[in-house]
Amino acid sequence: MIDGKKVLFSGMQATGTLTLGNYLGALQNWVKLSDEYECFYSVVDLHSITVRQNPAELRKRARNLLTLYVAAGLDPKKNCIYYQSHVSGHAELSWILNCFTYMGELNRMTQFKDKAAKHADNINAGLFTYPVLMAADILLYQADVVPVGIDQMQHLEITRDIAQRFNGVYGDVFTIPEAYVGKSGAKIMSLQEPSKKMSKSDENPNASVYLMDDEDVIIRKFKRAVTDSLARIAYTDEQPGIKNLLDIYCACTGKTPAEAVKEFEDRGYGELKTAVAEAVVSVLKPVQKRFEELSKDKTYIDEVIKENAEKADYYAKKTLRKVQKKVGFPERIR
Ligand code: TRP
Repeated sequence: MIDGKKVLFSGMQATGTLTLGNYLGALQNWVKLSDEYECFYSVVDLHSITVRQNPAELRKRARNLLTLYVAAGLDPKKNCIYYQSHVSGHAELSWILNCFTYMGELNRMTQFKDKAAKHADNINAGLFTYPVLMAADILLYQADVVPVGIDQMQHLEITRDIAQRFNGVYGDVFTIPEAYVGKSGAKIMSLQEPSKKMSKSDENPNASVYLMDDEDVIIRKFKRAVTDSLARIAYTDEQPGIKNLLDIYCACTGKTPAEAVKEFEDRGYGELKTAVAEAVVSVLKPVQKRFEELSKDKTYIDEVIKENAEKADYYAKKTLRKVQKKVGFPERIR
C-alpha cells in the first residue's frame, strides 16, 4: 500500500516495433487502472539485453517507449514511468532472489525453452534467470497486482513462489502479488494468421498493425486481413479472423461482441474491415499526434525520466534495505 492505494507493477520491453496488440492488450488497460492503483510502469531495459541488442537502437527504442507511455495517457505525475536500468535495486534484489530460486524451477519455464531454441547461439545465464529479474521488479515495489498476458503467467507464478519461500524463512517481507488479467477481447491476433498472437517480431508486415502506422497503411492492412469463406458475421472460434476483427472493434469502441455482431450481421466482410480500420485509426491518431509533440519536448521528457527514477528508487531502496538486513548483510554506517 502507498497512500492507501494498492500497488500495481508492470513493464514492457523496448524491443521491436509496438503493435496495436500491445496498445489494446496492455497500454490502454494501464491507463484505465491508473486511477485505482499506485502504478509503476517500467521500460524494462535490463531484460532486453538477454538477447543481443544494437546499443544505439536500444537506447532510442527505450526512449520512444517511455514517451509512448505518456502519449497513451499515463500521467507521469501520478504514475511512476521509468527505466529499469536507472534503479539499481532491480539488479541487486535480483541477485539475492537468485539464491532463493532453484535451477529446476527455471528449467520448467516455457519462455526460456522457446527463447533458447530461437537464440541457440546465445543461451546466456541472463536468459535463464530472466524470471528472477522479473520477480525482483515486482517484489521491489511490494506490488499487489500485476497486469500480465497469458504468456507471462508462469513468470508471475514463480514470482509468487519465490516470495513465499523468502517470507517462509524471514517473515513477512514481500507482498504476494496477484495477476490482473484484463477483460476478454484484449488479446489481439495476427491479421494474417488469426490463430497466432499479433507480435512485434512477426516477419510478415501485413500481420501486425504498428502503433505508428499511417491511416492508409492501417486501412490497407485491414483490407488484406485473412477471413474465411463462410460469408457470415458471427463471434465464434470457428471464424478466428472475423472474431479477431470484432475483438479489435470492441476494444476500440468499448462495445460488447454481441453489440458488434448485431451492428454487422447483415453486412459484408468488406464493410466490417473498413469499420474496424476506421475505429483503429480514431484510437491511434490522437496517441500518434501526442507522441509527435512529446518527442519534440526533450526537456519535459528528461524531467519525467529524472523525477520518476528518483521516486522509483525511493521505494525500491525501502524494500531492498529491509531484504539486505534480513539476509544478514552488515548495517550501513552513516
Ligand atoms: N517479461 C515481460 C514481457 O516480456 C516484461 C516484464 C518484465 C514484466 N518485468 C515485468 C511484466 C514485471 C510485468 C511485471 O512481457
